[in-house]
Amino acid sequence: MKPVEKIKAPIQKEMVLFEKKFKDSMQTKVPLLNRIMDYVVRRKGKQMRPMFVFLTAKMVSNGGFDERTYRGAAIIELIHTATLVHDDVVDDSNRRRGFFSINALWKNKIAVLVGDFLLSKGVLLSVDHGDFDILRLISTAVREMSEGELLQIEKARKLDITEEIYYDIIKQKTASLIASCTAIGAASVGANEKTINEMRDFGETIGLAFQIKDDLFDYTDDKIGKPTGIDIKEQKMTLPLIYTLNNCSEKDKKWIINSVKNHNKNKKRVKKVIQFVKDNGGIEYTQNQMKKHQEKAIHILDNYPDSEYKTALIDMLNYVVDRKI
Ligand code: IPE
Ligand code: IPE
Ligand code: MG
Ligand code: MG
Repeated sequence: MKPVEKIKAPIQKEMVLFEKKFKDSMQTKVPLLNRIMDYVVRRKGKQMRPMFVFLTAKMVSNGGFDERTYRGAAIIELIHTATLVHDDVVDDSNRRRGFFSINALWKNKIAVLVGDFLLSKGVLLSVDHGDFDILRLISTAVREMSEGELLQIEKARKLDITEEIYYDIIKQKTASLIASCTAIGAASVGANEKTINEMRDFGETIGLAFQIKDDLFDYTDDKIGKPTGIDIKEQKMTLPLIYTLNNCSEKDKKWIINSVKNHNKNKKRVKKVIQFVKDNGGIEYTQNQMKKHQEKAIHILDNYPDSEYKTALIDMLNYVVDRKI
């Protein structure tokens, strides 16, 4: 696996400029908000979404580029950051990117407003420049993300999730934004409808693999900069558990459901459930499903001529499933 820094090589210059534009787009005169924005910029994430925007733009236009591409990348990272700030409130999570989450430091009230601020800044960046095609692609993703998060909560309450519904949830809450990265990358350089749609499919498939990987992390003790082992506590049933439930005895199934329903805050019990999943092939099955999506995504690129950008996109895709954080 190539580290992200290596994959960034063909878009190094663009990423440096992006960071400046991203930072500038968070300007505010409110002192408290300014301090929080400073904190947000300093604890940056992997920045995979802007990388997807840039690499897709370059692959479909053979190296060409546009000011719109930068704005597209900045909007997506603003919205991504907004959703993480809100997500940590929703999930009651106190760590993000290796440090305290906004809600842990400034409490929920402020985190909710900070998320709204970031979202509005993203929308304005599009509106102010008349990038309405980009805004449409992004707004669809934002709507889908909220729907996905709510569907997830509904299923956590009823505990009646199926593999099909799991895919609906992750398609909406995660894959839709990554689909908009690759679609916007293509749209920003004037690609035709067919290419934009193909790139959207490519991003969506990557996004599914991406969230499956994220859900696998929760079953590990890996140091990934945010808590692990919290999904069951939040009554969130992801693919490893769904598979296990569908492939065990009625007695074990009852024990798992009862654990998730009534003992989800009991650390020892949750650990036991996690171990049961591991012992019953839940992780292996989930890894295989993730790899299926990885392969499907690679094949979408088959019709595109080889280039350093296509290679970097494939490296990114491999990074999504092999990454350690
Ligand atoms: C985290 O996304 C949210 C999910 C969709 C799982 P990333 O793992 O890309 O987060 P950062 O931006 O690198 O922190
Ligand atoms: C990711 O959801 C956030 C969104 C897609 C809105 P999760 O709750 O599964 O991700 P992490 O693990 O907190 O990053
Ligand atoms: Mg969540
Ligand atoms: Mg979360």
